[in-house]
Amino acid sequence: MSGSPHSIHNKAMAKDFDLMEDSNRSTNPSFHEVSDPARRVLVRGGLAAAVAGLFGPLGAGALAGCAATGASGVASLGRGIGFKGVPMAPGDRVVVPEGYAAQVLYRWGDPVGVAGRMPAFRGDGGNSAEDQALQAGMHHDGMAFFPIDGSSQRGLLVMNHEYVDDGLLHPDGMKTWTADKVRKSMQAHGVSVIEIERGGGWKQVLPSTFARRITALTPMAISGPAAGHPMLRTGGDPGGTRILGTFSNCASGPTPWGTYLTCEENFADYFEGTDNPDAHQRRWGVRKGNGAKYRWHEHEERFDVAKHPNESNRYGWVVEIDPQDPQSMPIKRSALGRAAHEGAATALTADGRAVVYMGEDARFEYIYKFVSRDRMKPGGFAANRELLDHGTLFVARFDVDGTGEWLPLQQGQGPLTADKGFANQGDVLIKSRQASDALGATKMDRPEWTTVDPISKWVYCTLTNNSNRGQPGQPFMDAANPRGNNTMGQIIRWKENGDLDGTRFDWNHLVLASDPKQSRSEAQGNIRGDTFGSPDGLMVDARGVLWIQTDVSTSTLGKGEYTNLPNNQMLACDPTKGEIRRFMVGPAGCEVTGIATTPDLRTLFINIQHPGEPANERSDPDRPLAVSTWPDGAGRPRSATVVITRNDGGVVGT
Ligand code: FEO
Ligand code: CA
Ligand code: CA
Ligand code: CA
Repeated sequence: MSGSPHSIHNKAMAKDFDLMEDSNRSTNPSFHEVSDPARRVLVRGGLAAAVAGLFGPLGAGALAGCAATGASGVASLGRGIGFKGVPMAPGDRVVVPEGYAAQVLYRWGDPVGVAGRMPAFRGDGGNSAEDQALQAGMHHDGMAFFPIDGSSQRGLLVMNHEYVDDGLLHPDGMKTWTADKVRKSMQAHGVSVIEIERGGGWKQVLPSTFARRITALTPMAISGPAAGHPMLRTGGDPGGTRILGTFSNCASGPTPWGTYLTCEENFADYFEGTDNPDAHQRRWGVRKGNGAKYRWHEHEERFDVAKHPNESNRYGWVVEIDPQDPQSMPIKRSALGRAAHEGAATALTADGRAVVYMGEDARFEYIYKFVSRDRMKPGGFAANRELLDHGTLFVARFDVDGTGEWLPLQQGQGPLTADKGFANQGDVLIKSRQASDALGATKMDRPEWTTVDPISKWVYCTLTNNSNRGQPGQPFMDAANPRGNNTMGQIIRWKENGDLDGTRFDWNHLVLASDPKQSRSEAQGNIRGDTFGSPDGLMVDARGVLWIQTDVSTSTLGKGEYTNLPNNQMLACDPTKGEIRRFMVGPAGCEVTGIATTPDLRTLFINIQHPGEPANERSDPDRPLAVSTWPDGAGRPRSATVVITRNDGGVVGT
């Protein structure tokens, strides 16, 4: 790589806002041209699959007809940000702007709402594993709102429960360790489907016929080119097509056909590796000692790699869930590749093919895009059951000149041949890291969430941080990842040349995060507005506001370059102007993550993950209140969904 990182960076930044505006508008079909009652998706119980506003002309707006609440209605409000920013301050509460209210909706341990089976939460961690399977899991993360009949007053809220703090989950934490505790931990992971409605405030519908928990013990299928692959076969599943559970579900995304994509991120942390890992296990971080964190392998043998070498290959997938059918089996979609998947942002090409953008959150890993072979059909999930099974997976290369290329992960092309270990497409997908290495894709600073601007079609991705960048023996800085010892992170964006299925793109950075009060030159950034670091959650809403959530690790909050940032937060940005304004600050020791809106943008849902988390990520069961008692003000801290509305009922953020 020639040139200093700063000259590279400045070149990219020089293109800053001149690529921005909405050139796609004139080439895409208008809302009314494609709007067609036949596209209306109504399924059982009259639940509209539409996630209004997020998918542009062929998506939810069209699905919901030409209702003013669709994308066109709220998009006409413009991207303006009207709230008064909130100051950063330490504290154990949710802070929102003047004129706004924050309401706690769904906490760890609250019943999910299955009729006749709603065990009350026990604040000492005393609920059984069976109780936990019917209650909200821990560590809420990615989330989507599925309106019922297009309503902004009633819908399904679907969310991930990424991981657990065993110090809070059990009365005595990990002082003793039993099979029951492992089962409780497994059932505190996964996904919740809850039904909610707006009366005075928002509340859960209890019971609800949609209520469902999906956990690390829920049977699921795997489909696509890797299904049945020898590397997926185990003693318990000789066919390699049936997998028990999903876990480490980090970010997520809704699809225009009404399903929820949940993403398996740090799955390697759950597998106790061997003394002599093979090259594949090493590349995927399946190491000796990993099992110490959650200790599942001590009572669930499949997490012991020495005994079950293929089990870890069955995780790291994007899982599709139909929230409208509580009996449906979740499906791991192998065509989208295997990764420490952070999230999955789905959009449609002008002719209706699905495009899924995905980041892999690990140091020096990659950004992916999947383009479906087929077009989305009207009829919701029933008509699109195989849409994500056929298509092309690409990995991104960001070039120094501000352009980039999507490299196909296609067996038989380029280096992806049998003599290099890729004898079939299943090999490519299960070993997508190795395939991306071979293709020369760009090693990124921990790609977290991606989001597609429904108006301009710019795609944004948070690169949360990477303190190993440029360190001895580690990859050096490059144009897209321009800072060494990158503690603060950046938001990169690209615009496809042509439609979203294009194989070339233009890119630049929206922002390099920083705290200007900190002096290390490499940590300096270019925020216009309020200070933040470690961006993670990200969503452009239907009127074009970019919401940014932060995940500064609890070992770092308030220290070093984060001295002025004692808590995690959420900010808003009009990406055509670049100013970033702080919208909320979370309680002590939390991560702010997960974001969804109602179609009318008058309600914003966010998740507070692990309030009170200590620096070592495990609470002391004898001192569980050491950092936080949020949200109850007493007792163990609980991850929870928070509803944010304006007191005057207006659109959030305006
Ligand atoms: Fe689970 Fe990458 O955050
Ligand atoms: Ca995340
Ligand atoms: Ca993160
Ligand atoms: Ca976290």
